[in-house]
Amino acid sequence: MMENSQVERLLLVCQNRTCKKQGSAKVLATFQTFDIPNITVEKSGCLGKCGSGPMVLVLPEEVWYSHVEPQNISAVMERHLLS
Ligand code: FES
Repeated sequence: MMENSQVERLLLVCQNRTCKKQGSAKVLATFQTFDIPNITVEKSGCLGKCGSGPMVLVLPEEVWYSHVEPQNISAVMERHLLS
């Protein structure tokens, strides 16, 4: 099995209306302050899970994070993206 850190990842942060109201712009901006090799942070349209936002989706594993708050982001990074 490949080491996680070698996987090229895409991290999508929903910026559609419902997630925006729940603070997704700040979540996106916070993710963008991290500069991690092999991870591209992008805004996305509606991820189809409105109401649980801000929604974050990590590809290619298809790991979802719901209700992401800026203060949770370093934990997400450490637990998932740097492992
Ligand atoms: S608005 Fe974000 S999942 Fe639909």
